[in-house]
Amino acid sequence: MKQETIIIDENESMDNESSTLREMIKKDRVIAFPTETVYGLGGNAYSDEAVKRIFQVKQRPADNPLIVHIHCMEQLNEFTEHIHPDAYRLMKRYWPGPITFIVPIKQGMLSHYVTAGLNTVGVRMPNHDFALQFLRIVDTPIAAPSANMSGRPSPTKFSHIEYDLYGRADVLIRGDDSIVGVESTVVDTTDEPFEIVRPGHITAADIMRETGIEVIYESTTSTTPKSPGMKYRHYAPKQPVYPFKEDFKPEGHVGVIAPAELIKSWNNVVTFELCESVINVNIAMRNLYKALRFMDAQQVDTVYIYQFPRQERYNALNNRIDKVISSKEEDL
Ligand code: TXA
Ligand code: MG
Repeated sequence: MKQETIIIDENESMDNESSTLREMIKKDRVIAFPTETVYGLGGNAYSDEAVKRIFQVKQRPADNPLIVHIHCMEQLNEFTEHIHPDAYRLMKRYWPGPITFIVPIKQGMLSHYVTAGLNTVGVRMPNHDFALQFLRIVDTPIAAPSANMSGRPSPTKFSHIEYDLYGRADVLIRGDDSIVGVESTVVDTTDEPFEIVRPGHITAADIMRETGIEVIYESTTSTTPKSPGMKYRHYAPKQPVYPFKEDFKPEGHVGVIAPAELIKSWNNVVTFELCESVINVNIAMRNLYKALRFMDAQQVDTVYIYQFPRQERYNALNNRIDKVISSKEEDL
């Protein structure tokens, strides 16, 4: 697959390029664009052709549904119905923001490829100036998974989407690095109590404290995760990845990803500082995928990565880090 790819700067785009963006989306083309969590690969959520193209460009398994992005609540009502009143309260509190709500669909609106045949859809209003303007300009809900090739770490820098999608996607938007750095919290609101099926920057404790609404974490022992994406191999660099322990003694040519306070001056070790101290959880999230892509590009034989304390505020980080470690043992 060799595709002509246009690159547009996010700052130029609105003055000069808004008609290009509108035309591209109308023609069922796919556009990689920045959001506050990770870059997304977007296409018209109402068009089978556009959504099929997203799956094809990313080489994503067809049974893994996509998140639909909107810029206003009117758009939400076009393709969903019977939303729980508490889900509306959460949307009001957290949108635009790094949180996706799974809600029931209105039949016959979205391309069925978006939902992979489910009766529910994940919806998000991103908190990002360019993303919101883009959604406004094209004026149709945009289905967008993370803009990485399937199995690669999510992109949090323009160079990541350029590496994965140049020559594959139709348009790449050059924006700044993603502020949040891990994908949105996904909350299933179709059953009570609401369940977090993918942890993210916003935690269950945040939601309880700020809204009084109880949200629980989907049991990690559940054999059929509600978020189909959670069963796939993810996020992994090419080398085997092991947990970094504080008594770590390097052997051979290895890489270490850890907070700076735990990194010593070992010989012959390639290091990536996720943050200064273990307590800098937001900075660690922002840097995690950069670290994984950095190590992937190094000639090291093995990578050691630090697992954060088993406390709720580290759930999103540990969820991704645990998968990087275990994906090497699974056969997915
Ligand atoms: O931050 C984000 O959420 C980014 C940006 C681009 O918005 N998007 C993103 O999309 O991470 P993606 O496709 O990489 O991850 C979507 C996750 C997958 O794990 C998928 O299985 C789950 O959401 N999901 C989507 N629709 C669902 C549904 N109806 N029921 C359960 N899980 C769903
Ligand atoms: Mg993804």
